[in-house]
Amino acid sequence: MTRRYFLHYSTVTATFLWAGCEERHSEPTQEDNVTTAKVEHFNQKLKIPQEINFNQIDKATFLAQKSQMAIYPDKPTELLAFTEIPLNPTIRIQKGDTFALDFTNGLSKPTIIHWHGLIVPEEMDGHPKDMIPNKSIKEYHYPINQSAGTFWYHTHPHGRTGEEIYHGLSGLYIIEDEEESKLNLPRGEFEIPLMIQDRRFDKNRQLIYKDPNVIQDNNGVLGDIILVNSTPFPYMDVATRKYRLRILNASSVRTYKLAFDNIEQFALIATDSGLLEEPIMVNHIVIGVAERVDIVVDFKDKQLGDITLLKTLGFKEGSNLTLHPDYPNFSTPMEIMQFHVTQKSEDNTTLPSKLIPISRLKASDAIQTRTITMEIIEGGLWTLDHKPYDINRIDQRVKLGTTEIWVIKNSVHMAHPFHIHGVRFQVLDRDGKIAFPTDRGWKDTVLVMPFETVRIIVEFTMLGLFLYHCHILEHEDNAMMANLLVEK
Ligand code: C2O
Ligand code: CU
Ligand code: CU
Repeated sequence: MTRRYFLHYSTVTATFLWAGCEERHSEPTQEDNVTTAKVEHFNQKLKIPQEINFNQIDKATFLAQKSQMAIYPDKPTELLAFTEIPLNPTIRIQKGDTFALDFTNGLSKPTIIHWHGLIVPEEMDGHPKDMIPNKSIKEYHYPINQSAGTFWYHTHPHGRTGEEIYHGLSGLYIIEDEEESKLNLPRGEFEIPLMIQDRRFDKNRQLIYKDPNVIQDNNGVLGDIILVNSTPFPYMDVATRKYRLRILNASSVRTYKLAFDNIEQFALIATDSGLLEEPIMVNHIVIGVAERVDIVVDFKDKQLGDITLLKTLGFKEGSNLTLHPDYPNFSTPMEIMQFHVTQKSEDNTTLPSKLIPISRLKASDAIQTRTITMEIIEGGLWTLDHKPYDINRIDQRVKLGTTEIWVIKNSVHMAHPFHIHGVRFQVLDRDGKIAFPTDRGWKDTVLVMPFETVRIIVEFTMLGLFLYHCHILEHEDNAMMANLLVEK
């Protein structure tokens, strides 16, 4: 497996190595670029983050700090973490409960935590204007009023979100509710969070972020090592039964087209902001940066000793831009992780044919239509509506309690995941059609394909100043962001 992967990767690298790479100063040597060869695939067990469960505690504490983790067995990697245990915890909370957390910034620069996908008051949302300086504390306190779903948290410092998430400042955030628990979906040890991130490591097992010699890194930082819950190309032991996988793409730029090598079909049961009306059987699923999908995959037909590979098929539809030429590009298929079937199980649960009702927002409910364009302007700056982000400028004013259609136009040959804080929305259409199965659920982030126009319909239910932006981390830091004011 390792070998096949490596050969494939070499071919791709050779083909794309020099395309659009005039700015590079030194030629890559064997030495510089051997990390992939040295990483054994599937010999480390998938790490599962600890949970902070608000059934058991009233308040949590986070201290953003420098830390080290044994990502590789031979040498620790320096990174940033929210707790003493460097693998950031998964937060689990019930709808109706109150979330409370004291956050201390132990980093040298100001930062702030954002709860991606949560609809919380402005001062709790983690807008970069609310960054707190080193050594100070921010008290988060807000009720959970929204439905069950897989969300996440990450820091959101002005201009440095990419760098901080890349170095470790993100984690999963699960909301549960009664409607969902009635469905009897796989839970406990059969419900597995998978945070997927591609990364670059140097020979000393240290993370490398942007390469200053390669200008294409401003278009997005691609890596060659795929981490799942901070474990490189891991494996996990499974029984012959159903599993619920809560998948988050917390990469910088890479879109994954996920599939299994020997399981034809699996069920998509939830998108960013909650469950679907009914499971959708698919054989692959596209997940852009910041999007989440919950899937149910069944190993019941497997024999002990069987191995199933989760991989990305590559997503050449996502970008014709040259990114860093030394790393597998968008069209490259890559291995992600393996499932080793080690246990028999009598699982006679069936997946319900109906999940939860979704009230469809209708175009006729909208009181306004706005158009947002995704552009690259002079100097290679990524922007929305031609204007680089200004933390003090209000770009859109909307009325609380109203519904609007936002028309997101991509004028570039690269897909962008468009995200709005403080709302959930539905996809009306993409150039007139519904193109992805994830378009059928509640979303907070939508992948807008090259030169495509996507119409979304948004309910504004929370007062205050929020952000909307491209969630390619290097794009949001590089000005592809704007302010939205929801007012009375
Ligand atoms: Cu993950 Cu501004 O968001
Ligand atoms: Cu967000
Ligand atoms: Cu973008």
